Amino acid sequence: MPYPYVLLSAAVSLDGFLDDTTPERLLLSSPADFDRVDEVRASVDAILVGAGTIRADNPRLLVNSPERRAARVAAGQPPYPLKVTVSGSGELDPQANFWHTGGAKALYTTDEGAERARALGIAADVVPLGPRLDWRRLLEHLHDELGVRRLMVEGGGTVHTQLLRQGLADELQLVLAPLLVGDPDAPRLFGPGGYQGGRLRLVETRRIEDVVLNRYEPTAPGAGPLPVAADRHWLALACELAERCPPSKTAFSVGAVIVAADGTELARGHSREAGDPVVHAEEAALAKLDRADPRLRTATVYSSLEPCARRSSRPAPCARLILDAGVRRVVTAWREPDTFVTEADGTGLLTAAGVDVLVLAECEERAKAPNRHLV
Ligand SMILES: NC(=O)c1ccc[n+]([C@@H]2O[C@H](COP(=O)([O-])OP(=O)(O)OC[C@H]3O[C@@H](n4cnc5c(N)ncnc54)[C@H](OP(=O)(O)O)[C@@H]3O)[C@@H](O)[C@H]2O)c1
Ligand SMILES: [Zn+2]
Repeated sequence: MPYPYVLLSAAVSLDGFLDDTTPERLLLSSPADFDRVDEVRASVDAILVGAGTIRADNPRLLVNSPERRAARVAAGQPPYPLKVTVSGSGELDPQANFWHTGGAKALYTTDEGAERARALGIAADVVPLGPRLDWRRLLEHLHDELGVRRLMVEGGGTVHTQLLRQGLADELQLVLAPLLVGDPDAPRLFGPGGYQGGRLRLVETRRIEDVVLNRYEPTAPGAGPLPVAADRHWLALACELAERCPPSKTAFSVGAVIVAADGTELARGHSREAGDPVVHAEEAALAKLDRADPRLRTATVYSSLEPCARRSSRPAPCARLILDAGVRRVVTAWREPDTFVTEADGTGLLTAAGVDVLVLAECEERAKAPNRHLV
């Protein structure tokens, strides 16, 4: 289930287009920004584009700087990141630059597309994903089978739209170029249709010659049992809060954050906060909210440790408090060990009441760090 960190990278015109409708590729970035893109490419394990971009632009997708390639090799990586493309049809030009430059290549496709691509003699590791292309399976395969931890996605709009819409993008690096395309038939970065959640978080803005780079992170939690990229960010914050707890030999250090469906942080808490020697993280966070707050019913509780099912210090365990608050989704990093109570099954209590509980094991080590002396 762990996915790579997914970084979407694109440049758009002031009127939001990725390209014009002429056969030549429209240059949106400035030279210094192309160099920045080269630096980002050098920092990832793989670069992905859709088959549409290969057809339209015939890109090479290389790390152009010899120094950056040498630094990768010195760090034990191949000089070029893996190049990845997706195609449903498998209708690809075997002569395209994509296949004949740089290092290893992988094509994710459908069963039918794989047959077509093999018949065409496409020079890549062809991975059929069944009758349809599933992005979660693709990311899982990249992570588990090809060792990809950081993935840069360089378009086009069809690919960016799906990854953002499905909550699979960890970051968007958007460059705004000072020109107008003005052609309604030109391709847009993000297509029409529903996007989950509300505002993205602006994490950086940088002027690069005459373009502006904006970096955004999605904040909206998922709505069900499947993790989205924003879940990782919020759980990481819960783990950070756990590190701020006053130390204890008799209780865990835990952090918790409650986040509304649109990505608004509603409350946070940590163990033993504000001089209360027994308060738990989820309890402390919930206490800051009005029980009647309608946003709780669609909120997600992030807790570095699974909510407790039994405790001696207070009558109600955190799993009960979460149920009473009407919360339907919990994301945690770590199941409670038998240190203080046996069969501490907070997850069981919550799931029996219909709550979706996700355990993101990739955050487990971080959640355990302030509790090393207890396990
Ligand atoms: N300004 C920029 O930063 C930038 C960056 C990249 C691209 N672009 C521009 O974007 C345009 C291309 O964008 P695009 O949206 O047409 O193409 P795209 O996103 O690069 O690729 C779309 C293709 O990918 C495959 N695909 C994607 N999702 C799929 C799914 N769920 N199931 C099966 N197949 C899937 C399909 O291939 P098959 O058709 O083979 O089935 C689909 O036609 C070009 O004009 C290019 O210049 C601009
Ligand atoms: Zn508790």
